[in-house]
Amino acid sequence: MLTVRAPATSANLGSGFDVFGVAFERPADVVRVEKADRTTIEVTGVGSQYIPEDPEKNTVGAVAEALDAPAHIKIDKGVRPASGLGSSAASAAGAAVALNELYDRGKSREELVPIAAEGEAVVSGDAHADNVAPSILGGFTIARSDGVTRLGTDIPLVACLPEIVVSTRDARGVVPEGARMSEVVEIVGNAATLTAGMARSDPELVGRGMDDPVVTPARAELIDGYAEVRAAALAAGAAGVTISGAGPAVLAVCQSGKRRSVATAMLDAFDAEGIESRAYQTRVGAGATLY
Ligand code: HSE
Repeated sequence: MLTVRAPATSANLGSGFDVFGVAFERPADVVRVEKADRTTIEVTGVGSQYIPEDPEKNTVGAVAEALDAPAHIKIDKGVRPASGLGSSAASAAGAAVALNELYDRGKSREELVPIAAEGEAVVSGDAHADNVAPSILGGFTIARSDGVTRLGTDIPLVACLPEIVVSTRDARGVVPEGARMSEVVEIVGNAATLTAGMARSDPELVGRGMDDPVVTPARAELIDGYAEVRAAALAAGAAGVTISGAGPAVLAVCQSGKRRSVATAMLDAFDAEGIESRAYQTRVGAGATLY
């Protein structure tokens, strides 16, 4: 029996749609694996009632198949599904790291990223690596079709998760098909600024690079109260605010000492819209860890 803790993640960070991601210190999924003749899956924890245990329909089934590593797999969800916090990616990342170890497959962490991304495709329809990469590697990641670049960084974060559900498929359905050149120029400037901020562990610089004029405004329509929550977080001292992944969680970057007031402001703003929410005060953290 092997146990791996795989963290929640936030993809996009505004200007890095389908490219940027960060690992959180918390919350996380815990994945336990044991060798078996065929793969079976048991899911407990937050939102587990919405997650299929059929290996054909669960992210980790595809990962076990890709690694030719049949196992009893127990997933204790710490990351709510359909949250925008990389829930399915955390399970896929945890399973990839655990099964690679259990069956001594000898794959590097980088090699496990596309394998875990295949698991992601089972639930989101596309094999994105922008959540699985940080969950496996930790830190800040830049995922491209030809591989992943990782940067270690220390950035405080607040993620506020409202009690509403936005499916990744729906959120991808509203992504505009194109962008104007002026928008592309703005995004390149923001993405470069954000990357420099990560390299320097500078929350103010990261926050300045989080704006996105194309995908985020379209998706904001799916999240009741988004504009109010964003404004409240900025007024409370956040350096930058955007939708976490495909939503509905909202991500704020700030100085360490501001996390509490930013979290309170975001909770209050959702509450004023009649929406319950919970806030995670966290920071960019390590990737999947073997117990
Ligand atoms: N980059 C993806 C999106 C993350 O925003 O749709 C969710 O898979």
